[in-house]
Amino acid sequence: MRVFVTGHQGFIGPHLIEILKSKGHFVTGCDINLFGDCKISEVVKPDIELEKDIRNVTVEDLYGYDCVMHLAAISNDPMGNFDPELTYSINKEGSINIGALAKKAGVKKFLFSSSCSIYGKGESLDLDENASFNPLTAYAISKIETEKAVSNMADENFCPVFLRNSTAYGYSPMFRIDLVVNNFLACAVAKGDIKIMSDGEPWRPLVHCRDIARAFVAVAEAPTETVFNKAINIGGNKENYQVKEVAKFVQDLMPEANIVFTGEVGNDPRDYRVNFDLLYKLLPGFELEYTLKKGMSELYGYLKKSNFSAKDFDGDRFVRMKLLKNNLHKITTPDEV
Ligand SMILES: NC(=O)c1ccc[n+]([C@@H]2O[C@H](COP(=O)([O-])OP(=O)(O)OC[C@H]3O[C@@H](n4cnc5c(N)ncnc54)[C@H](O)[C@@H]3O)[C@@H](O)[C@H]2O)c1
Repeated sequence: MRVFVTGHQGFIGPHLIEILKSKGHFVTGCDINLFGDCKISEVVKPDIELEKDIRNVTVEDLYGYDCVMHLAAISNDPMGNFDPELTYSINKEGSINIGALAKKAGVKKFLFSSSCSIYGKGESLDLDENASFNPLTAYAISKIETEKAVSNMADENFCPVFLRNSTAYGYSPMFRIDLVVNNFLACAVAKGDIKIMSDGEPWRPLVHCRDIARAFVAVAEAPTETVFNKAINIGGNKENYQVKEVAKFVQDLMPEANIVFTGEVGNDPRDYRVNFDLLYKLLPGFELEYTLKKGMSELYGYLKKSNFSAKDFDGDRFVRMKLLKNNLHKITTPDEV
């Protein structure tokens, strides 16, 4: 396959490029490199690398590809709230535009990196793909509106698929600590504390970043009729955890670490437990490589080995929001939006 990946220099992207290349696919990566400072180890390069704002991608850029995997985005709730207009411009308008261009260029499959956060505060537990949306942020709204618009483009020549990812965690060469699991572990290693900003009760579906990448590849390689225009939750039924359980797992790895409830966000309104049956029904050969315990233990080993410090934890390198603010000029003035 010839695959065009956007956002390949993010947290999930390097795993995706490496897996695609190891399976012999031809890969182009397109990214504006907002977070290059977070690189902690070498990455496998795509065959072609475009340093380009996704809003400036043209139909010519997409000719000759079998699949577009669209991951580039302002990729979490706090960043979305920091500048909702920018989030809508990149995550919604930019994404819908890439979908339309892919279709125009004759690309058969378009895989969109959506999110389970569109379920927001779940009205019931074990939400499947038919559960009602309850978006709490600009980020979640941008994902819902992109799904709707791109879904309407589906026809016999264009197969969009919407991968609604759980919250990612784990080791990636383009590391970040602004995700709950990585944050707890990094804080414990750097400072000896596990800081819970809510009361610890909310549920979260969690998935290793490499398993998200593996799911993208599995969907791309699946027969079109199996995944045609489907929204699919990405994760595992047993991989829903309450935040306080995640903290407990950190304490199992580091018994000397203290759990501290800071109460900063009070009752965290983001509370959802997700059902993943559809993923395993559509792709019976697919399994997660990681449980939370396995992924945490691997990441703990890495953090210890690299002497992850309080300076690393408090600095800008591994927090997307801080890097975004430093690099805002790269995305507030695209050439032709
Ligand atoms: N990480 C998670 O927990 C998670 C969960 C659910 C869904 N997702 C989705 O998966 C995708 C990837 O997530 P991630 O954690 O790797 O994000 P990330 O923030 O680590 O990486 C995003 C990448 O997109 C690039 N980018 C941003 N705006 C761009 C633009 N206008 N033009 C070109 N490149 C641009 C950035 O430079 C970065 O390399 C995102 O769409 C995100 O919304 C992530």
